Amino acid sequence: MTDATQNADGGLAFFEDLHPPEGDFKADVLAGLSKPQKTLDAKYFYDAAGSEIFDAITEAPEYYLTRTELALLDEIAPKLRARAGVGAVVLEPGAGSSVKVRKLIDALEAPAAYVGMDISGEHVKSACAAIAADYPGLTVGAVCHDFTQEIDLSALPLPSGKRVVFFPGSTIGNFELSGAQALLEVLRDYLRPGDGLLIGVDLRKDGATLEAAYDDAGGVTAEFNYNLVRRINTELGGTIDPEALLYRAHWNPYRSRVEMYLQAKRDMDFTVADQDFVLREHETIHTENSHKFTISTFQDLALRAGLKAVDVWTDATEAFSIHWLEVLGEP
Ligand code: TRP
Repeated sequence: MTDATQNADGGLAFFEDLHPPEGDFKADVLAGLSKPQKTLDAKYFYDAAGSEIFDAITEAPEYYLTRTELALLDEIAPKLRARAGVGAVVLEPGAGSSVKVRKLIDALEAPAAYVGMDISGEHVKSACAAIAADYPGLTVGAVCHDFTQEIDLSALPLPSGKRVVFFPGSTIGNFELSGAQALLEVLRDYLRPGDGLLIGVDLRKDGATLEAAYDDAGGVTAEFNYNLVRRINTELGGTIDPEALLYRAHWNPYRSRVEMYLQAKRDMDFTVADQDFVLREHETIHTENSHKFTISTFQDLALRAGLKAVDVWTDATEAFSIHWLEVLGEP
Protein backbone atom coordinates (compact mmCIF):
# COMPACT_ATOMS: atom_id res chain seq x y z
CA MET A 1 0.00 0.00 0.00
CA THR A 2 1.49 3.32 -1.04
CA ASP A 3 1.45 6.44 1.08
CA ALA A 4 -0.54 8.21 -1.59
CA THR A 5 -3.30 5.62 -1.38
CA GLN A 6 -3.24 5.76 2.39
CA ASN A 7 -3.65 9.51 2.32
CA ALA A 8 -6.40 9.31 -0.27
CA ASP A 9 -8.38 6.96 1.94
CA GLY A 10 -7.73 8.80 5.19
CA GLY A 11 -5.26 6.31 6.64
CA LEU A 12 -7.22 3.21 5.61
CA ALA A 13 -5.23 0.11 4.69
CA PHE A 14 -7.97 -0.79 2.22
CA PHE A 15 -11.45 0.08 1.03
CA GLU A 16 -13.50 -2.59 -0.74
CA ASP A 17 -16.82 -1.84 -2.40
CA LEU A 18 -18.81 -5.09 -2.57
CA HIS A 19 -21.66 -3.25 -4.31
CA PRO A 20 -24.57 -4.09 -2.02
CA PRO A 21 -27.88 -4.35 -3.91
CA GLU A 22 -29.58 -0.96 -3.71
CA GLY A 23 -32.98 -0.87 -2.08
CA ASP A 24 -35.77 0.59 -4.19
CA PHE A 25 -37.40 3.09 -1.81
CA LYS A 26 -40.41 3.80 -4.02
CA ALA A 27 -41.19 0.17 -4.91
CA ASP A 28 -40.74 -0.95 -1.28
CA VAL A 29 -42.96 1.82 0.14
CA LEU A 30 -45.72 1.20 -2.42
CA ALA A 31 -45.61 -2.56 -1.82
CA GLY A 32 -45.67 -2.11 1.97
CA LEU A 33 -48.61 0.30 1.91
CA SER A 34 -50.54 -2.07 -0.38
CA LYS A 35 -50.55 -4.94 2.13
CA PRO A 36 -53.60 -5.67 4.35
CA GLN A 37 -51.38 -4.79 7.34
CA LYS A 38 -49.61 -1.74 6.00
CA THR A 39 -45.92 -1.78 6.67
CA LEU A 40 -42.81 0.30 6.03
CA ASP A 41 -39.36 -1.25 5.74
CA ALA A 42 -37.33 -0.14 8.76
CA LYS A 43 -34.13 0.12 6.75
CA TYR A 44 -35.47 3.39 5.33
CA PHE A 45 -35.45 5.02 8.76
CA TYR A 46 -31.76 5.71 8.43
CA ASP A 47 -31.33 8.65 6.06
CA ALA A 48 -29.02 11.45 7.30
CA ALA A 49 -31.74 13.06 9.45
CA GLY A 50 -32.95 9.65 10.68
CA SER A 51 -29.46 8.59 11.71
CA GLU A 52 -29.13 11.75 13.79
CA ILE A 53 -32.49 11.14 15.44
CA PHE A 54 -31.42 7.56 16.15
CA ASP A 55 -28.32 8.83 17.95
CA ALA A 56 -30.67 10.95 20.10
CA ILE A 57 -32.80 7.84 20.85
CA THR A 58 -29.74 6.13 22.31
CA GLU A 59 -29.44 9.02 24.77
CA ALA A 60 -33.11 9.10 25.83
CA PRO A 61 -33.44 8.33 29.56
CA GLU A 62 -35.90 5.48 28.90
CA TYR A 63 -33.71 3.84 26.25
CA TYR A 64 -31.55 1.77 28.61
CA LEU A 65 -30.02 -0.45 25.90
CA THR A 66 -27.06 1.61 24.70
CA ARG A 67 -25.82 2.77 28.06
CA THR A 68 -26.26 -0.68 29.58
CA GLU A 69 -24.35 -2.35 26.76
CA LEU A 70 -21.54 0.22 26.95
CA ALA A 71 -21.17 -0.23 30.72
CA LEU A 72 -21.22 -4.00 30.31
CA LEU A 73 -18.46 -3.82 27.68
CA ASP A 74 -16.32 -1.92 30.19
CA GLU A 75 -17.09 -4.43 32.90
CA ILE A 76 -16.16 -7.49 30.83
CA ALA A 77 -13.09 -5.95 29.17
CA PRO A 78 -10.67 -8.37 30.94
CA LYS A 79 -12.78 -11.37 29.83
CA LEU A 80 -12.84 -10.15 26.25
CA ARG A 81 -9.10 -9.63 26.36
CA ALA A 82 -8.61 -13.20 27.54
CA ARG A 83 -10.99 -14.66 24.96
CA ALA A 84 -9.56 -12.75 22.00
CA GLY A 85 -5.88 -13.24 22.80
CA VAL A 86 -3.05 -11.25 21.20
CA GLY A 87 -3.34 -9.79 17.70
CA ALA A 88 -7.07 -10.25 17.08
CA VAL A 89 -8.81 -9.06 13.93
CA VAL A 90 -12.03 -7.21 14.77
CA LEU A 91 -14.76 -7.24 12.10
CA GLU A 92 -17.88 -5.11 12.51
CA PRO A 93 -20.78 -5.73 10.11
CA GLY A 94 -23.12 -2.73 10.17
CA ALA A 95 -20.50 -0.47 11.76
CA GLY A 96 -22.47 2.54 12.97
CA SER A 97 -21.14 5.20 15.25
CA SER A 98 -17.87 3.76 16.43
CA VAL A 99 -18.30 4.33 20.18
CA LYS A 100 -18.91 0.69 21.10
CA VAL A 101 -16.18 -0.86 19.00
CA ARG A 102 -13.65 1.52 20.54
CA LYS A 103 -14.42 -0.03 23.91
CA LEU A 104 -13.76 -3.45 22.38
CA ILE A 105 -10.52 -2.36 20.70
CA ASP A 106 -9.38 -0.73 23.96
CA ALA A 107 -10.08 -3.99 25.81
CA LEU A 108 -7.94 -6.16 23.52
CA GLU A 109 -4.24 -6.93 23.66
CA ALA A 110 -2.43 -5.52 20.62
CA PRO A 111 -5.28 -6.08 18.15
CA ALA A 112 -3.95 -6.49 14.60
CA ALA A 113 -6.79 -5.01 12.58
CA TYR A 114 -10.23 -3.48 12.56
CA VAL A 115 -12.53 -3.81 9.55
CA GLY A 116 -15.78 -1.83 9.52
CA MET A 117 -18.53 -2.80 7.10
CA ASP A 118 -21.60 -0.78 6.24
CA ILE A 119 -24.16 -0.46 3.47
CA SER A 120 -23.19 3.21 3.12
CA GLY A 121 -19.70 3.40 1.61
CA GLU A 122 -19.13 7.04 2.51
CA HIS A 123 -20.31 6.53 6.06
CA VAL A 124 -18.08 3.52 6.69
CA LYS A 125 -15.07 5.21 5.10
CA SER A 126 -15.27 8.22 7.38
CA ALA A 127 -16.05 6.18 10.51
CA CYS A 128 -13.09 3.86 9.82
CA ALA A 129 -10.78 6.76 8.96
CA ALA A 130 -11.57 8.23 12.40
CA ILE A 131 -10.57 4.93 14.03
CA ALA A 132 -7.39 4.75 11.94
CA ALA A 133 -6.46 8.25 13.13
CA ASP A 134 -7.00 7.35 16.78
CA TYR A 135 -5.23 3.94 16.68
CA PRO A 136 -1.96 4.48 14.77
CA GLY A 137 -0.71 0.90 15.24
CA LEU A 138 -3.90 -0.70 13.98
CA THR A 139 -4.50 -1.83 10.38
CA VAL A 140 -7.92 -0.42 9.51
CA GLY A 141 -10.02 -1.39 6.50
CA ALA A 142 -13.49 -0.38 5.36
CA VAL A 143 -15.96 -2.41 3.32
CA CYS A 144 -19.15 -1.26 1.62
CA HIS A 145 -21.42 -4.22 2.25
CA ASP A 146 -24.97 -5.17 3.31
CA PHE A 147 -24.62 -7.43 6.36
CA THR A 148 -27.69 -9.46 5.47
CA GLN A 149 -25.81 -10.69 2.38
CA GLU A 150 -23.19 -13.41 2.35
CA ILE A 151 -19.58 -12.30 2.10
CA ASP A 152 -16.41 -13.93 0.82
CA LEU A 153 -13.85 -12.83 3.37
CA SER A 154 -11.02 -14.40 1.41
CA ALA A 155 -11.44 -11.43 -0.96
CA LEU A 156 -10.23 -9.11 1.82
CA PRO A 157 -6.58 -8.65 2.80
CA LEU A 158 -7.05 -9.72 6.43
CA PRO A 159 -4.20 -10.45 8.84
CA SER A 160 -4.22 -13.99 10.14
CA GLY A 161 -5.16 -13.42 13.82
CA LYS A 162 -8.22 -14.71 15.65
CA ARG A 163 -11.37 -13.05 14.33
CA VAL A 164 -13.76 -11.27 16.64
CA VAL A 165 -16.99 -10.40 14.84
CA PHE A 166 -18.80 -7.63 16.71
CA PHE A 167 -22.57 -7.18 16.34
CA PRO A 168 -23.85 -4.96 19.16
CA GLY A 169 -27.05 -2.99 19.76
CA SER A 170 -29.49 -5.92 19.78
CA THR A 171 -29.87 -5.38 16.04
CA ILE A 172 -30.47 -9.13 15.79
CA GLY A 173 -33.82 -8.45 17.53
CA ASN A 174 -35.02 -6.28 14.67
CA PHE A 175 -35.39 -9.36 12.44
CA GLU A 176 -38.21 -11.89 12.39
CA LEU A 177 -36.95 -15.06 14.09
CA SER A 178 -36.44 -16.83 10.76
CA GLY A 179 -34.49 -13.83 9.45
CA ALA A 180 -32.49 -13.65 12.69
CA GLN A 181 -31.47 -17.29 12.25
CA ALA A 182 -30.52 -16.62 8.63
CA LEU A 183 -28.44 -13.60 9.69
CA LEU A 184 -26.68 -15.63 12.40
CA GLU A 185 -25.86 -18.21 9.72
CA VAL A 186 -24.31 -15.46 7.58
CA LEU A 187 -22.29 -14.25 10.59
CA ARG A 188 -21.22 -17.82 11.41
CA ASP A 189 -19.59 -17.95 7.99
CA TYR A 190 -17.19 -15.20 9.12
CA LEU A 191 -15.81 -17.57 11.71
CA ARG A 192 -13.24 -20.34 11.67
CA PRO A 193 -12.96 -22.70 14.67
CA GLY A 194 -11.85 -20.65 17.68
CA ASP A 195 -12.99 -17.30 16.26
CA GLY A 196 -15.76 -15.51 18.17
CA LEU A 197 -19.02 -13.72 17.43
CA LEU A 198 -19.58 -11.06 20.11
CA ILE A 199 -23.22 -10.09 19.95
CA GLY A 200 -25.39 -7.79 22.08
CA VAL A 201 -28.90 -9.04 22.84
CA ASP A 202 -31.61 -7.24 24.79
CA LEU A 203 -33.44 -9.34 27.37
CA ARG A 204 -37.13 -9.89 28.00
CA LYS A 205 -38.45 -7.81 30.87
CA ASP A 206 -41.65 -6.09 32.05
CA GLY A 207 -43.81 -4.53 29.38
CA ALA A 208 -43.89 -1.03 30.89
CA THR A 209 -40.10 -0.70 30.78
CA LEU A 210 -40.01 -2.00 27.22
CA GLU A 211 -42.82 0.22 25.96
CA ALA A 212 -41.17 3.28 27.54
CA ALA A 213 -37.84 2.43 25.88
CA TYR A 214 -39.54 2.49 22.48
CA ASP A 215 -41.86 5.43 23.18
CA ASP A 216 -39.80 7.89 25.20
CA ALA A 217 -41.56 10.80 26.89
CA GLY A 218 -39.39 13.28 24.97
CA GLY A 219 -40.93 11.98 21.74
CA VAL A 220 -37.61 11.17 20.06
CA THR A 221 -38.66 7.69 18.88
CA ALA A 222 -41.98 9.10 17.65
CA GLU A 223 -39.99 11.72 15.74
CA PHE A 224 -37.85 8.95 14.23
CA ASN A 225 -41.06 7.44 12.80
CA TYR A 226 -42.44 10.78 11.59
CA ASN A 227 -39.14 11.40 9.84
CA LEU A 228 -39.81 8.35 7.67
CA VAL A 229 -43.25 9.74 6.80
CA ARG A 230 -41.71 13.10 5.90
CA ARG A 231 -39.14 11.28 3.77
CA ILE A 232 -41.95 9.60 1.84
CA ASN A 233 -43.69 12.95 1.38
CA THR A 234 -40.56 14.73 0.13
CA GLU A 235 -38.91 12.01 -1.92
CA LEU A 236 -41.97 10.22 -3.29
CA GLY A 237 -44.43 13.11 -3.57
CA GLY A 238 -46.49 11.76 -0.66
CA THR A 239 -49.42 13.57 0.94
CA ILE A 240 -49.48 11.74 4.30
CA ASP A 241 -50.42 14.09 7.16
CA PRO A 242 -48.03 13.15 9.99
CA GLU A 243 -50.27 15.05 12.42
CA ALA A 244 -53.04 12.54 11.76
CA LEU A 245 -50.81 9.66 12.87
CA LEU A 246 -50.20 8.57 16.43
CA TYR A 247 -46.95 6.77 17.23
CA ARG A 248 -47.38 3.64 19.37
CA ALA A 249 -44.99 1.08 20.84
CA HIS A 250 -46.75 -2.14 21.86
CA TRP A 251 -45.17 -4.97 23.89
CA ASN A 252 -46.46 -8.27 22.48
CA PRO A 253 -45.62 -10.90 25.11
CA TYR A 254 -46.84 -13.75 22.90
CA ARG A 255 -44.22 -12.99 20.28
CA SER A 256 -41.75 -11.53 22.78
CA ARG A 257 -41.30 -8.33 20.88
CA VAL A 258 -42.00 -4.63 20.96
CA GLU A 259 -44.00 -3.70 17.86
CA MET A 260 -43.93 -0.17 16.55
CA TYR A 261 -46.80 1.38 14.66
CA LEU A 262 -48.15 4.62 13.26
CA GLN A 263 -51.89 4.64 13.93
CA ALA A 264 -54.50 6.76 12.15
CA LYS A 265 -56.30 9.19 14.48
CA ARG A 266 -59.09 9.46 11.89
CA ASP A 267 -59.94 8.10 8.44
CA MET A 268 -57.24 9.35 6.08
CA ASP A 269 -56.62 9.17 2.40
CA PHE A 270 -53.37 10.06 0.78
CA THR A 271 -51.28 9.47 -2.29
CA VAL A 272 -47.71 8.30 -2.68
CA ALA A 273 -46.10 8.44 -6.12
CA ASP A 274 -49.53 9.00 -7.65
CA GLN A 275 -51.05 5.93 -6.02
CA ASP A 276 -54.08 6.31 -3.73
CA PHE A 277 -54.23 4.80 -0.26
CA VAL A 278 -56.83 4.75 2.50
CA LEU A 279 -56.17 4.33 6.19
CA ARG A 280 -59.24 3.90 8.44
CA GLU A 281 -59.45 5.36 11.92
CA HIS A 282 -57.32 3.22 14.32
CA GLU A 283 -55.73 1.31 11.43
CA THR A 284 -51.96 1.00 11.66
CA ILE A 285 -48.80 1.12 9.60
CA HIS A 286 -46.28 -1.30 11.13
CA THR A 287 -42.77 0.20 11.15
CA GLU A 288 -40.48 -2.04 13.24
CA ASN A 289 -40.16 -4.94 15.69
CA SER A 290 -37.64 -5.39 18.46
CA HIS A 291 -37.56 -8.99 19.70
CA LYS A 292 -36.54 -9.66 23.29
CA PHE A 293 -34.87 -12.89 24.36
CA THR A 294 -34.02 -14.83 27.46
CA ILE A 295 -30.48 -16.18 27.65
CA SER A 296 -31.77 -19.60 26.63
CA THR A 297 -34.15 -18.52 23.82
CA PHE A 298 -31.22 -16.69 22.26
CA GLN A 299 -28.78 -19.56 22.77
CA ASP A 300 -31.32 -21.95 21.20
CA LEU A 301 -31.63 -19.67 18.18
CA ALA A 302 -27.84 -19.46 17.88
CA LEU A 303 -27.55 -23.24 18.08
CA ARG A 304 -30.02 -23.62 15.20
CA ALA A 305 -27.69 -21.34 13.24
CA GLY A 306 -24.70 -23.57 14.00
CA LEU A 307 -23.26 -21.41 16.78
CA LYS A 308 -22.43 -22.61 20.27
CA ALA A 309 -22.65 -20.43 23.36
CA VAL A 310 -19.19 -20.20 24.89
CA ASP A 311 -19.76 -17.26 27.25
CA VAL A 312 -22.56 -14.92 28.21
CA TRP A 313 -22.41 -11.80 30.35
CA THR A 314 -25.25 -9.64 31.69
CA ASP A 315 -25.40 -6.42 33.70
CA ALA A 316 -26.40 -6.58 37.38
CA THR A 317 -30.09 -5.93 36.59
CA GLU A 318 -30.11 -8.56 33.81
CA ALA A 319 -31.49 -6.02 31.37
CA PHE A 320 -29.02 -6.76 28.56
CA SER A 321 -26.70 -9.58 27.53
CA ILE A 322 -23.51 -9.96 25.53
CA HIS A 323 -22.71 -13.37 24.08
CA TRP A 324 -19.50 -14.95 22.85
CA LEU A 325 -20.47 -17.56 20.26
CA GLU A 326 -18.24 -19.90 18.26
CA VAL A 327 -18.84 -22.23 15.35
CA LEU A 328 -20.30 -25.52 16.39
CA GLY A 329 -17.77 -28.24 15.59
CA GLU A 330 -18.59 -31.38 13.65
CA PRO A 331 -20.17 -33.91 16.06
N1 TRP B 1 -31.72 -2.26 17.57
C1 TRP B 1 -32.47 -1.18 18.19
C2 TRP B 1 -33.50 -1.77 19.12
O1 TRP B 1 -34.26 -2.62 18.74
C3 TRP B 1 -33.08 -0.33 17.12
C4 TRP B 1 -34.10 0.68 17.58
C5 TRP B 1 -34.17 1.32 18.76
C6 TRP B 1 -35.19 1.17 16.84
N2 TRP B 1 -35.26 2.18 18.79
C7 TRP B 1 -35.88 2.08 17.64
C8 TRP B 1 -35.66 0.89 15.57
C9 TRP B 1 -37.01 2.74 17.18
C10 TRP B 1 -36.79 1.56 15.14
C11 TRP B 1 -37.47 2.45 15.92
O2 TRP B 1 -33.55 -1.37 20.26
